[in-house]
Amino acid sequence: MTDTQGKVYIVGGGPGDPELLTLKAKRVIETADVVIFADSLVPPEVVEFAKEGAQVHGSKELNLDEIMELELSAVREGKTVARVQSGDPSIYGAILEQMRILDQEGVEFEIIPGVSAAFAAAAVLKSELTVPEKAQTIIMTRMEGRVAMPPGEKLKDLAAHGCTLVIFLSITRMTQVVRELTSSGYTEDSPVAVVYRVGWPDQKVIRGTLKDIADKVRAAKITLQALIIVGDAVDPEQHVAGAVSHLYSSEYTHRYRRGQEAVTGTQASGNGEG
Ligand SMILES: C[S@@+](CC[C@H](N)C(=O)[O-])C[C@H]1O[C@@H](n2cnc3c(N)ncnc32)[C@H](O)[C@@H]1O
Repeated sequence: MTDTQGKVYIVGGGPGDPELLTLKAKRVIETADVVIFADSLVPPEVVEFAKEGAQVHGSKELNLDEIMELELSAVREGKTVARVQSGDPSIYGAILEQMRILDQEGVEFEIIPGVSAAFAAAAVLKSELTVPEKAQTIIMTRMEGRVAMPPGEKLKDLAAHGCTLVIFLSITRMTQVVRELTSSGYTEDSPVAVVYRVGWPDQKVIRGTLKDIADKVRAAKITLQALIIVGDAVDPEQHVAGAVSHLYSSEYTHRYRRGQEAVTGTQASGNGEG
């Protein structure tokens, strides 16, 4: 590599809505000489900010060698590359293998985080994924399929925690998902939401329980690009009543604010972070 080599940016392209790009992601896409975007999950609108004359490639029909060849040849010519992934690149982004090659080749790279479909879906569902007293943990996972799960990470094992589960890459195995979950920490009445193509114009939201969700998904003919979120976090009843977080409680003292009760007696206190 010469001193004039370019740089690769691995960019979180968000779930599909271009307005969910970070300002940094947009700037990198606008200034890159070469833009390679995961066009199976990222719509062209997300990369339409590419400058005139930039080379723009969809990657869905390319293999890793072909993608890396595009990246490395551009960098060797001193160009900047934006490799735009869906959502946040750190979640099922297949970026490890790219980073290994970039490291081996001595290429400078930087990761720009993005809005994961998980968080865009929570927003569309108007859900807090951490529900006081019910779910203080979020597990992001997938159903075992062609990719084997490591020991202890089968859906059944994870379901035993009964917390909020965000399941990627599994919509075609809905019946199996339901079977695994109901055999462990959830019941047929557990709330579930499926969000299809969040942030796209044809986004769909399906709500139900583990008893009826598979039928509803089948009826809606959803077979790809959907997230399954399970647990109290997606129970619409949470909007009506339930425990509240300490953070903004008038009685709770923390680093930044003295609770009303502190004047008269002892009480729980925290660091003001939640
Ligand atoms: C290879 S993973 C990429 C996840 C991505 N890195 C993220 O943070 O959202 C692809 C899976 O993510 C989920 N996904 C990605 N984009 C989505 C969207 N716009 N709406 C719903 N699910 C989406 C689906 O479960 C899909 O099968």
